Amino acid sequence: MVGQAAHRLAVMAERTTNAPIDHTPEWAALRHHHERVAGRHLRDLLVEPGRLEVLTIDLPGIHADLSKHRATPETVQLLIALAERAGVRERIAATFGGEKVNTTEDRAALHVALRAPADAVIEVDCRNVVPDVHEVLDRMGSFSRRVRGGDWTGATGERIRAVVNIGIGGSDLGPAMATEALRSYADPACTYRFVSNVDGADLHWALRDLDPATTLFVVASKTFTTVETLTNARSARRWLVDALGEDAVSHHFVAVSTNAERVAEFGIDIANMFEFWDWVGGRYSVDSAIGLSLMLAIGPESFGELLEGFRLVDEHVLTTPLSRNLPVLMGLLGVWYVDFFGATSHAVLPYAQELARFPAYLQQLEMESNGKSVTLDGQRVGFATGPVVWGEPGTNGQHAFFQLLHQGTELVPADFIGTIHPNHPLEAHHDLLVANLLAQTEALAAGRTADEVRAEGVADELVAHKVFEGNRPSTTLLCDRLDPRTLGSLVAIYEHKVLTQAVVWGTNPFDQWGVELGKALATRIGPELVAGDDSTASAHDPSTAALIERYRAARH
Ligand code: F6P
Repeated sequence: MVGQAAHRLAVMAERTTNAPIDHTPEWAALRHHHERVAGRHLRDLLVEPGRLEVLTIDLPGIHADLSKHRATPETVQLLIALAERAGVRERIAATFGGEKVNTTEDRAALHVALRAPADAVIEVDCRNVVPDVHEVLDRMGSFSRRVRGGDWTGATGERIRAVVNIGIGGSDLGPAMATEALRSYADPACTYRFVSNVDGADLHWALRDLDPATTLFVVASKTFTTVETLTNARSARRWLVDALGEDAVSHHFVAVSTNAERVAEFGIDIANMFEFWDWVGGRYSVDSAIGLSLMLAIGPESFGELLEGFRLVDEHVLTTPLSRNLPVLMGLLGVWYVDFFGATSHAVLPYAQELARFPAYLQQLEMESNGKSVTLDGQRVGFATGPVVWGEPGTNGQHAFFQLLHQGTELVPADFIGTIHPNHPLEAHHDLLVANLLAQTEALAAGRTADEVRAEGVADELVAHKVFEGNRPSTTLLCDRLDPRTLGSLVAIYEHKVLTQAVVWGTNPFDQWGVELGKALATRIGPELVAGDDSTASAHDPSTAALIERYRAARH
């Protein structure tokens, strides 16, 4: 084991001191290959014999079709060679092994330990973290059972009817997305709300129709220093104390954090705190204690199935050859479009209303992870990295932005996510929904030629307008049903996709220094908006100074 770990570290070290990835023969081979194949049309590629077998992958509950990509078998081989050169296998193994792959923060990135079976051994600094994970899961489980069963009551003895999660970023998006996605598994006797924005409107409208006596707040913050979360938590505390008095706080507030000291300072009993650890990144934390409000909604058993879904994909990514490895292939195809076709964005289009927040969740996962422009050794990259990730549920998007996907000048690779079975009884709606998903992927790929348009009797002057170039690539993820296990698997697929891309680009997907500057400046400007301060004009650029002055004059 020690030998393997040393080897992996040596490979990582070599990778960071070696030539940049875009100076390698594997990159050059892809560039030449791109010149040869970029002009090939999906209409022709799609009918090549054997293509479907090679480019479809089945995981439990998820059928993935990668055949509508502008890739030949040789493309896939060359991308895998690039992945091998970058050390994708070694970095995945190092990440799973608990090595401190988050080098700029000197931390492991061990979200895979959050779903490891109880008998697994995963060490950080020579300590097996799996028993800690399971101890917290057990505590979350018994707390959730008590709340859901009415044994944990509010200060007046009434049972809890509303759970309000207060958090932001990774401490909000994961549980908010998953609670909506799994709403048909949630206890309908309770209301679930998620407050993230420091805009008072968010908390105000979330609480407007709630009864303090039956409301439980889950204050979720890894650091417990995030100003938005603490501001919302303080106002929520005031709302509760005004109605029920100071002693009610311990009945109505629990915390999820890595920072017990700050939780205690805030006034939440640390007996009511659910812990996680610095080796869990915020955007990788939905399956940690950050998922507490989700567990309160769907129950510990369904939460266990969610973890099982994650685990299935972890095993798949670790043990499957790269040519059949779904997250790795999705990551490599992303690199192919960004770095060789010049794609700047990637659409995520769930044909499942319950996944409405999934694009927003992936925005943080992908863009906070791969929005980087220096490599692990601090060198500026000479190529493009993470694309803009965006999307909305279908079919709504079809009546809004799909025009650009079909006929715009941008190449936007897209992921279509649908289910075979709906979680509602309106079966006819579902067939129509899935028909639309399939029709869109087909139309994007095939397009419509001028001859086809003319054959429909279209007037000559309109032909150019009605031609669809096609050749627009997409992935289809067709799930059996949107259930906890499938959702866990979906999230894990994207987590490992993101890691694959970061390894190829040589960047760190686990830090987020870029968000610090805005936070620091907001701290400085905040007091300036309130107090008259003549130094404002000289401390800011003219535009910002004038806006501060305008706001101050109107407000104070
Ligand atoms: O501002 C970015 C960020 O640090 C995210 O990475 C994180 O998920 C979010 O803020 C919330 O942080 P915390 O959980 O510490 O409140």
